Amino acid sequence: MRIRGQNYRTLWELPEANGIEVIDQRHLPHRFVTAALRTPADVAEAIRDMWVRGAPLIGAVAGYGLHLAARLAPDSRVPAAVAEAFELLAATRPTAVNLRWALRFVADRARDARTPDEVRQRLLDAARQVVGDELERSRRIGEHGLRLIRDVAARKGEVNVLTHCNAGWLACVDYGTATAPVYAAHEAGVPIHVWVAETRPRNQGAALTAFELGEHGVRHTVVADNAGGHLMQRGSVDLVIVGADRVAANGDTANKIGTYLKALAARDTGVPFYVALPSSTIDRAVPDGTAIPIEERSPDEVRYLDGLGPTGPARVLVVPAGSPARNPAFDVTPARLVTGFITEDGVFSSDELRTGAAGR
Ligand code: MRU
Repeated sequence: MRIRGQNYRTLWELPEANGIEVIDQRHLPHRFVTAALRTPADVAEAIRDMWVRGAPLIGAVAGYGLHLAARLAPDSRVPAAVAEAFELLAATRPTAVNLRWALRFVADRARDARTPDEVRQRLLDAARQVVGDELERSRRIGEHGLRLIRDVAARKGEVNVLTHCNAGWLACVDYGTATAPVYAAHEAGVPIHVWVAETRPRNQGAALTAFELGEHGVRHTVVADNAGGHLMQRGSVDLVIVGADRVAANGDTANKIGTYLKALAARDTGVPFYVALPSSTIDRAVPDGTAIPIEERSPDEVRYLDGLGPTGPARVLVVPAGSPARNPAFDVTPARLVTGFITEDGVFSSDELRTGAAGR
C-alpha cells in the first residue's frame, strides 16, 4: 500500500536477513518512523509495546524472532536459544492467536533439521513463508469481500462501510483484513466511503486506519466510538466490517474492545456485520469465546491521550489525577451476531465455520 505515493509493506528484511525493519506505528499518523529489529529481545519489545500490532503482523514479525535467535546463537546453543525465544515471544501478547500460530509454524519447520545451519535456514525460510502466505491471504480476503461490496453498490450506488480499530494493511503485511475489500473496491472504481471509529483507548482507528485510507486516497470520516450506533440507526452504514484477533471454534470472535457494542447495534438496526480474517486467526482448540484470554493493558492508556501538540508529540491526562482506570484490550462478539466471516477461502456463516467447512 502507498505512503506519500511510495509502496510499502509493514516489514522488510535487512541485508543478509540479519534483522528486519518495521514501521514503528507508535509515531503514526504524525511521523513516519521505522525501526530495525536485530535480536529476539528487540522483536519481543516491538510486539509488547505495540510498535507493531494487529494479529497477522505480530505473527509475521515473531517468526523472524525465532530466526534471529538461531542466527545469533553459537552452534551448541541453537535449539535452546530457539526454545527460549519461543517462550519470550509467545508471552508478549495473549489474545491474538496468530502470534502462537506463527511461532509454532516456524518452529515446526526446523524440528527435524540435522545441523545448526540447517535449523537457521529453515527458520528463515519459514518466517518468509508466513509473510508471503499472510500477504496472499489478505489479497484473497479482499477479492471475496469485494463481492459483498459490489452487491450493495448495485442496489444503492455509494457503499458506506463502518470499521473499528485498525484491521488494515498496517495490521498485516499488506492490504489488511477488514480493509482488504475496501481497497479492492477502491481499485475497482466502486464508490466507497469508510466510517472510521476512533477506537479508544489507543485510537488505532483515528491514528492508523484514517492514516492508511487517506494515504491511499480512500474517502473516509473519523467518528467517535459512540457514534456508530447512531449512524446505523440513521441508515448511514451499509456494512460493518471488522478484523479479529482470535475466532473460537464456534465462531465467537475476539477483537479490539468496543467491537461487541458495534455488533449489538448492527443487529438491532439490521446492518450486516462481517468479520474479515485469515485462517491463521481461527483457533479450533478453543471451543467458544469464554476460553479466549483477554489482554489487560496499562490503565495509563485510558488515563492519557497521545497526540500532536503545538511543539510536537504530546501526552495529556484526561481523567482526574486520582481516578483509577481499567483497560481490557479486547472483547468477544458472540457468533450469533456475526452475519459472515470473510476468509481467504470465501465468505462463511458461523455454522459453516463451526462444522469445519471454513478455515480448515
Ligand atoms: O491491540 P491491537 O492494535 O493489536 O488490536 C488489533 C485489532 O484488534 C485488529 O482488529 C485485529 O488484530 C485484526 S488485524 C487484521
